[in-house]
Amino acid sequence: MADTANAATGTKRDFLTLSATAFAAVGVGAIVWPFIHSMNPSRDVLALASTEVDLAPITAGMAVTVMWRGKPVFVRHRTPEEVTAARAVPMTDLKDPARDETRVQRPQWLVMVGVCTHLGCVPLGQKPTDQKGEYNGWFCPCHGSHYDTSGRIRKGPAPANLEVPTYTFMTDSKIRVG
Ligand code: FES
Repeated sequence: MADTANAATGTKRDFLTLSATAFAAVGVGAIVWPFIHSMNPSRDVLALASTEVDLAPITAGMAVTVMWRGKPVFVRHRTPEEVTAARAVPMTDLKDPARDETRVQRPQWLVMVGVCTHLGCVPLGQKPTDQKGEYNGWFCPCHGSHYDTSGRIRKGPAPANLEVPTYTFMTDSKIRVG
């Protein structure tokens, strides 16, 4: 009699254990799916995998900022003087040596990710009224990094030049970043 009761209790316990396991599996599945699903890029994010910029309205000396993959991208139409200044700098003066010619596809157009390479602030220098720093390029007020007219680090704690993203000239007056 006792054996029968134990067997019945055991069966019931097994059933409860199995049920709990099944519910746990379903529960985990229900939690995991939205999480995995949320890691798929949404359509609007995919659309921003590249960004087109119309250069026509950007006259010499002007700059615009566009968003690309959640980051600001600086597009500056450099004046001949800014290009000359960038190209006259000896490599020995640079913390992160790079010739200006290697940072641009066309001398007058400088395209860079507008994120300071120190701790990620967005440097000033895009607006005509902004401080441009001691080298007439960009100035990061967070900890005082100065970038020149090629976006190269010249003074302050930033370790590297502003990054040049991948971009393509689609026409003479349009680029695609990314
Ligand atoms: S984040 Fe730009 S100087 Fe520190």
